[in-house]
Amino acid sequence: MSKIEINNVYKIFGNNPQSVMPMVKGGANKEEVLEQTGHTVGLDDVSLKIEEGETFVCMGLSGSGKSTLIRHLNRLIDPTDGEILVEGTNVMSFNKDQLIEFRRHKMSMVFQRFGLFPHKTVIQNVGYGLEMQGKPEDERYRVAMEKIDAVGLNGFENQFPNQLSGGMQQRVGLARALATDSDIMLMDEAFSALDPLIRSDMQKQLLDLQSELKKTIVFITHDLDESLRLGDHIGILNAGKLVQVGTPVDIIMNPADDYVKAFVKDVNRAKVIKAKVIMKDINNANDIDKSSLIKVNEDQFIEEFLPQIVCSNSNCEVVDKSGNVKGYISNKELQSSLTKS
Ligand SMILES: Nc1ncnc2c1ncn2[C@@H]1O[C@H](COP(=O)(O)OP(=O)(O)OP(=O)(O)O)[C@@H](O)[C@H]1O
Ligand SMILES: [Mg+2]
Repeated sequence: MSKIEINNVYKIFGNNPQSVMPMVKGGANKEEVLEQTGHTVGLDDVSLKIEEGETFVCMGLSGSGKSTLIRHLNRLIDPTDGEILVEGTNVMSFNKDQLIEFRRHKMSMVFQRFGLFPHKTVIQNVGYGLEMQGKPEDERYRVAMEKIDAVGLNGFENQFPNQLSGGMQQRVGLARALATDSDIMLMDEAFSALDPLIRSDMQKQLLDLQSELKKTIVFITHDLDESLRLGDHIGILNAGKLVQVGTPVDIIMNPADDYVKAFVKDVNRAKVIKAKVIMKDINNANDIDKSSLIKVNEDQFIEEFLPQIVCSNSNCEVVDKSGNVKGYISNKELQSSLTKS
């Protein structure tokens, strides 16, 4: 069972969403629906599975439906059609109390525009979820201080949000989400307001946290480098439609359409593609000349061995950690894999 399963979800914004469903299901696109009915298509037949312990990154241009999608998961938004299952339970089946319980314990969210309480201090904001869970004050204080420390805001715990910069407020939002220790974290542009250095540091912290805690994270970003660094899988939205889901390498090597191509066109492939992804396995490499070979590890990124291969005009022999030969890469194919579009 997947941790989260989204099946044929549609979201139409407007006065009478149901009335435009036949048109949307009939294939009309977002522009046509808006022009003819005044309704906005937020999501258009989105289906998706997210597995326990993975970081799923959602990308797409502004207005493509990323926030709308993530907000369905904790029912801040209800779908016009379709279903959302979390651990096999349809979230639409929750009554009011079950929904409150679900939001307190199962999911935490970092909002795109922080969503902090202006009248509460940093530490009160961070401890808010714990307060809702009914945790005693000393525990709230201890856990909240620990998370404030983790996001680098030590010393600011008694300030109010309007006394902080945007990036600092974003970190308070992150600390608040970490504090409740829910196993699903929804992060809507959680790092976008941060300086590059702090942003990179927060990405590293999230990766470290993930390697230890294995939470299920749904992370929205506009930034391709961020999505490649964090995502186990990446989903790309265009005008409410999910146009491609894949691993970072899938997306880079086989972009589904021109929209995805435009996202990945500037990626340095040599930095993100490993030897094992492009090698021919030993049984299919008869055509590769083995008279001059350079040994590379299967987990090495292309950029690490590319200069050596090109300069010496050799082919690669790809080995695993124990030195067993797994496959070969020809010099020519190596270079064409970097320029393929
Ligand atoms: N409450 C709402 N009422 C009407 N239309 C909405 C509402 N929320 C979102 N939309 C529309 O749904 C579409 C998707 O919006 P959404 O906020 O999900 O985009 P996004 O991908 O998160 O964009 P951004 O990157 O700018 O945050 C947009 O066309 C938007 O105008
Ligand atoms: Mg958004």
